[in-house]
Amino acid sequence: MIRRAEVTDHPWIIATGAEAYHDLGDYTRILPSWLEQPGVLAWLDCDLQGRGRGFAMLGFYMEDPTGGAGPATQVVADLLALAVLPAYQNRGIGTKLLEYVIDVAERVAPSSKIGSLRLTVSETNSGAQRMYARAGFRIVDGSATYDRGQRALRMARPLTGKT
Ligand SMILES: CC(C)(COP(=O)(O)OP(=O)(O)OC[C@H]1O[C@@H](n2cnc3c(N)ncnc32)[C@H](O)[C@@H]1OP(=O)(O)O)[C@@H](O)C(=O)NCCC(=O)NCCS
Repeated sequence: MIRRAEVTDHPWIIATGAEAYHDLGDYTRILPSWLEQPGVLAWLDCDLQGRGRGFAMLGFYMEDPTGGAGPATQVVADLLALAVLPAYQNRGIGTKLLEYVIDVAERVAPSSKIGSLRLTVSETNSGAQRMYARAGFRIVDGSATYDRGQRALRMARPLTGKT
């Protein structure tokens, strides 16, 4: 079952994400800073007892595509984090969470004029890259880096407003 995360779920999300991403940076610091932003939403996949097995975090931001040169701003959507506890990986939970957040982004896309959903994934994480490609994401920048210098890919999936 997938449900919206509540504030009481944040410690679990931070611990789970920090463990999943420990090679990439200090996510015990990064995840709380994302969760406190008003445009950031999170969802949990839970077992029948309500215990979290995985989470996804989606951020909606205002961005100035002119880099400050003009008045134009647009809303962008970022899949900030997706992680499944190691004991539950490879059972389709990550794919289910991904499809869920894509559906949310598709539903708000027309009114917010959001053209695409973006994400960043480690260059070496080929399993996750395959999962994103199956969901319609394509590489838009192959030369990004994480805090600790690991190479990363930026991927994006067009949002058409149709679910
Ligand atoms: C990537 C991840 C979210 C996928 O969740 P999942 O529930 O295992 O996903 P699914 O069962 O739906 O399988 C989707 C793909 O994930 C891959 N996968 C499974 N375990 C993985 C792992 N430990 N690391 C990376 N990819 C993994 C599988 O290979 C599968 O692809 P394939 O079927 O083409 O082989 C999960 O493995 C995870 O949390 N990994 C660590 C954190 C991470 O890499 N997050 C994504 C980068 S932002």
